[in-house]
Amino acid sequence: MKLAVLSRQPRSYSTRRLVQAAQERDVEVEILNTLRLAIDLSGDEPDMLYRGEPVADYDAIIPRIGASITFYGMAVVRQFEQMDVYTPTTANAIANSRDKLRAIQLLARNSISIPDTTFVRDRADVLPAIERVGGAPVIIKLLEGTQGIGVILAPDRKVAEAVIETLQSTKQNVLIQRFIAESRGRDVRTIVVGDRVVAAMRRIGKEGEFRSNVHRGGSTEPVELDEHTKRFAVRTAHTMGLRVAGVDMLESEKGPMVMEVNSSPGLEGIEGATHLDIAGTIIDYIQSQVTFPDLDIQQRLASSTGYGVAELYIGPGAELIDHTIRAGLRDRDITALTLFRGDHVIPNPRDDRVLEVEDRLLCFGKFSEMRALIPARRRRRARPKAKPLPDDPLAQEDITKGV
Ligand SMILES: Nc1ncnc2c1ncn2[C@@H]1O[C@H](COP(=O)(O)OP(=O)(O)O)[C@@H](O)[C@H]1O
Ligand SMILES: [Mg+2]
Repeated sequence: MKLAVLSRQPRSYSTRRLVQAAQERDVEVEILNTLRLAIDLSGDEPDMLYRGEPVADYDAIIPRIGASITFYGMAVVRQFEQMDVYTPTTANAIANSRDKLRAIQLLARNSISIPDTTFVRDRADVLPAIERVGGAPVIIKLLEGTQGIGVILAPDRKVAEAVIETLQSTKQNVLIQRFIAESRGRDVRTIVVGDRVVAAMRRIGKEGEFRSNVHRGGSTEPVELDEHTKRFAVRTAHTMGLRVAGVDMLESEKGPMVMEVNSSPGLEGIEGATHLDIAGTIIDYIQSQVTFPDLDIQQRLASSTGYGVAELYIGPGAELIDHTIRAGLRDRDITALTLFRGDHVIPNPRDDRVLEVEDRLLCFGKFSEMRALIPARRRRRARPKAKPLPDDPLAQEDITKGV
């Protein structure tokens, strides 16, 4: 196998370890500076140049794309994908995880628990948004921050409002998020490789710091996770489209909540804390997958008119409940590719499996047949109207008048 690590920091711990692990396994490996790769769309086939020369025939790449070059890095990764080079981290998956809002929109859609979050633009919507996520103290986050920079804990609504206004005036987009106080400056970082959690550590913020980032002076210790939390982390990585990921979770009263998913997780902290050969696990995984480059299925299927992939949700009262896959789907020329049931992912489910309410099925078939099985759009439940805020300027006026 011939592997390229895309990195602008050949001497960084993570890059060195990946190269070392590859060499230990007799994998031919090179480090390519992402910014020296040129995308070439002039010939018959998608191609690339490296430092002006045609790029070698790699079987796989490991993108280590830093936040500062996300756009160019993603284009380069996408080009390798077009050349059918295997990557555990696709350009789409990088895009999903880089933008915190996009990430949690995706996670929320897939029923992955996250801290309550809102995103607003208009001044008038800020205070109600803060209340919706539980009131102050409240977390304010820049959409593309990293290393704890751009995460603020606002102690009260006035400060929160002022911070949000200031950031917005400099054209920064911010998220407003419930402060998970019980996590007490700690979080859990897991590394997911393929369909396993291969390492986990707890990060503990330094005294008086709510952020647990090591770059903010936090410390680490290994942690043993229960099966549920491990499955949760794997499901999170897969939802983002990542096969190698750092999944960060807060330990809330309601169980684990995803805070962030990293598409190029650093290895130094976690290998140091756990004494595990994570770089080696990543290389082993890539070797096992190299023959299966990631396909954009919808794109490939675009030419088989009328057929495609769709997700069927078996809602309450759906006609498929208590039917076998054979009776419910196969007879309609629909193939169930994967069944999602609660925490469980069942690939290639058997024909005699009986469907249950709340199952989700990834299917391939004729759109016209599948459409008939999708229930009418569920009505969104109405929210109760928010109560007036006690120290709302208007409400306050009333109180003063009352006195
Ligand atoms: N909603 C929250 N409640 C409590 N602590 C949080 C919350 N969001 C973030 N933190 C703390 O702040 C740190 C940085 O936040 P994170 O979203 O991971 O940003 P970054 O990308 O800068 O690391 C986290 O590691 C965690 O310790
Ligand atoms: Mg973080």
